Amino acid sequence: MVSIPEYYEGKNVLLTGATGFMGKVLLEKLLRSCPKVKAVYILVRHKAGQMPQERMEEMISCKLFDRLRDEQPEFKEKIIAVPSELTQSELDLSEQDKEKLIDCINIVFHCAATVRFNETLRDAVQLNVIATQQLIILAQRMKNLEVFMHVSTAYAYCNRKHIEEIIYPPPVDPKKLIGSLEWMDDGLVNDITPKLIGDRPNTYTYTKALAEYVVQQEGAKLNIAIIRPSIVGASWKEPFPGWIDNFNGPSGLFIAAGKGILRTIRASNSAVADLVPVDVVVNTTLAAAWYSGVNRPRNIMVYNCTTGGTNPFHWGEVVYYLNLNFKMNPLEQALRRPNVNMHSNFLLHQYWTAVSHILPAVLRDVVLRLTGQKPWMMKTITRLHKAMMLIEYFTSNSWIWNTENVNMLMNQLSPEDKKVFNFDVRQLHWAEYMENYCMGTKKYVLNEEMSGLPAARKHLKKLRNIRYGFNTVLVDPDLAYLIARSQMARNIWYFVVTSSTMRY
Ligand SMILES: NC(=O)c1ccc[n+]([C@@H]2O[C@H](COP(=O)([O-])OP(=O)(O)OC[C@H]3O[C@@H](n4cnc5c(N)ncnc54)[C@H](OP(=O)(O)O)[C@@H]3O)[C@@H](O)[C@H]2O)c1
Repeated sequence: MVSIPEYYEGKNVLLTGATGFMGKVLLEKLLRSCPKVKAVYILVRHKAGQMPQERMEEMISCKLFDRLRDEQPEFKEKIIAVPSELTQSELDLSEQDKEKLIDCINIVFHCAATVRFNETLRDAVQLNVIATQQLIILAQRMKNLEVFMHVSTAYAYCNRKHIEEIIYPPPVDPKKLIGSLEWMDDGLVNDITPKLIGDRPNTYTYTKALAEYVVQQEGAKLNIAIIRPSIVGASWKEPFPGWIDNFNGPSGLFIAAGKGILRTIRASNSAVADLVPVDVVVNTTLAAAWYSGVNRPRNIMVYNCTTGGTNPFHWGEVVYYLNLNFKMNPLEQALRRPNVNMHSNFLLHQYWTAVSHILPAVLRDVVLRLTGQKPWMMKTITRLHKAMMLIEYFTSNSWIWNTENVNMLMNQLSPEDKKVFNFDVRQLHWAEYMENYCMGTKKYVLNEEMSGLPAARKHLKKLRNIRYGFNTVLVDPDLAYLIARSQMARNIWYFVVTSSTMRY
């Protein structure tokens, strides 16, 4: 059997969602590890006054592409930005671009989606379902198409506890839903959304389930495979350990923890945190396309790209490593020392939310107002609470995913491909991964310099001393009086609190 790089040799690839988190990692890895791929056509929309070509140029100038730039300085010539707004009719492609894609594309990777959990049903259907349908229609006209890879989510059927690598019946016929959305006004759609999504927590998981059905039904004549990642996190190894560039999903909460803003989360200690590194997802996707391209399986291959079944990691451990790592390598200008606690009990969580989030935020805003500054803390906390509410369902429940197809795929790889396209999560060492992840949020999301680490540590030490001082005053008014009156008492107290510092 040909190796993965050999399979991609001379191939024209179409990629949607290339400007997104997963899409850009896939683009980089494909070009770097399959250097003989002919071209990658990326569908990009105009955004914030930038043309698709400009957006592509800006994207490939980011750090993620540094390694590729070193190894293949001419790599840019292989990336062709095609203007496309996926929510428009026929993906808003020009006739010329459409003809070009129909003539030359061999492999499609469909990554684009709205991943917002609180998207309106209309918008989520438009992008996650209708655009997928439109892309399938285009794919059917492609003369040399070998594989269509659809990126779904492991939570598409989160209303089930045990999820196999099969496509389940959809919650509703997508055609009927699309037809109904045409005549309903937005108010009515929003009113019936909770009833429609039923036992799913949001429109995202609901529409991703519908998209799988659309892919299965409308792409019946195509060679299709579906990848279902769970919660995609920073990279494990490639192109750099801990690479991440956004606040989506857990990363935003990790940063809030590092800044000392996030103090309490509602989660179950023992619930599995099914994090999967982005490079694992990308390697599985590239390998799955290779497998389908070479073997042309008769049925749609579904891959549950998860970690919980083989190398489980729990939310209790996530919190432990967050506190540990952000104390060891603090973010700059943390507001408080990182110290997240976890409560599964609703009332207890509400109590700690009031005490450790809302009260300090109100006090800080009062101080800001009194000192003539603009208050912002309560606004930040409100946003944080909204984000936490959206993920609570996923931090409080656990699922079992079958991963037989993923294991089969791994066994098909040659020893060399196993190394280059590693997705064996049994080798993942969570403590090390979390250390790199926390460092990645600092380096790549917040763009903080490593040279600022000593100052950040000093700042944390100061915060800790302030807290000790505050506690001392609260606990022992006599001692506080003595410290206030006597220089010697002050020195002794300072010695006690600083000498026991920094035990990370
Ligand atoms: N991230 C996760 O934890 C996770 C977990 C499981 C599955 N997945 C799946 O993985 C895939 C990629 O997710 P991601 O995290 O990379 O998402 P992301 O960072 O939000 O990227 C979404 C991509 O879709 C593009 N897109 C959105 N609306 C578009 C439109 N109207 N026209 C053209 N392009 C549009 C975005 O382009 P712009 O830059 O123009 O906005 C962006 O490139 C999705 O299918 C998602 O369901 C993700």
